[in-house]
Amino acid sequence: MTEGRIAVVTGASSGIGRAVTRHLARRGVHVVAAGRNAERLAELAEPAGESGELGESGAPGDGPGRIVPFAGDITAPGHTEELLAAAEREWGPADIFVASAGLGLPGTVLGSDPSRWEELVQANYLAVLRQLRACAAEFVKQAEADGGARVRDLVVIGSTVGRQVSAANPVYGSTKFAVHSLVEALRQEVCTHNIRVTLVEPGFVRSGFQAAAGYDAAWFEAIAEENGPLLTPEDVADVIGFAIGRPKHVHLDDIRLRPTRQRA
Ligand SMILES: NC(=O)c1ccc[n+]([C@@H]2O[C@H](COP(=O)([O-])OP(=O)(O)OC[C@H]3O[C@@H](n4cnc5c(N)ncnc54)[C@H](OP(=O)(O)O)[C@@H]3O)[C@@H](O)[C@H]2O)c1
Repeated sequence: MTEGRIAVVTGASSGIGRAVTRHLARRGVHVVAAGRNAERLAELAEPAGESGELGESGAPGDGPGRIVPFAGDITAPGHTEELLAAAEREWGPADIFVASAGLGLPGTVLGSDPSRWEELVQANYLAVLRQLRACAAEFVKQAEADGGARVRDLVVIGSTVGRQVSAANPVYGSTKFAVHSLVEALRQEVCTHNIRVTLVEPGFVRSGFQAAAGYDAAWFEAIAEENGPLLTPEDVADVIGFAIGRPKHVHLDDIRLRPTRQRA
């Protein structure tokens, strides 16, 4: 159900977005891989299939997918439109969009660094809102043209702390609570077009996230000791691949996954 499709993945230079990009390409999806770190994105553009060979035509569905890197900042207005246009130039209109780019912030309301709040809200909330709007508008346009003949997927990475209040991480968590409500509202707005808007809420995932946010390494290793083995980005990619691989009439719209031993 994924072969022959065309995707845009944000946050593809690291962690979950990178694993999703590779997972989709292995399954025959062509992917525009977005992030700021152009060097890390370029590494992804290596042939992605088991054999490393593309099909003869290079068209979606003909052999493993191709990965085209696209460097840019998700907080820039118009960025989503540029990503969708890049996919269309390469292969045709995208029908999968995975919004994985985001960042963390250590600390409580009193303890977190207020000078970082704006960057957090820009990336984790406003940029996601812009991506949802631009992508849903494009998907609705496509669905109106083909009568919703094919399914289209918009997947957003939330978090368990966007579902349950975390006293240790409430500022970051509040951006994920906001995204949770947006995703469900948009799902209701566009579902009749056969557009699936899906929230994926992971618990602890070992990725570039902890270092990028500046979480204390010893604290994180204590968390890993208590709750581990932690999820890997590939675990999350596998679940996303399963969800978007369901038949057109089946929507796994809200998926929480945690390390088995993670209590809260
Ligand atoms: N790791 C966890 O425990 C965990 C748990 C639940 C939810 N999440 C969520 O999962 C998503 C992915 O996180 P991850 O674990 O994969 O972290 P990661 O390894 O740090 O990856 C984050 C990605 O976001 C991109 N990014 C951040 N700010 C950006 C910006 N302004 N413009 C463009 N790209 C930007 C980074 O790209 P560049 O570095 O190239 O800019 C990177 O590719 C995030 O939304 C995060 O909140 C993570």
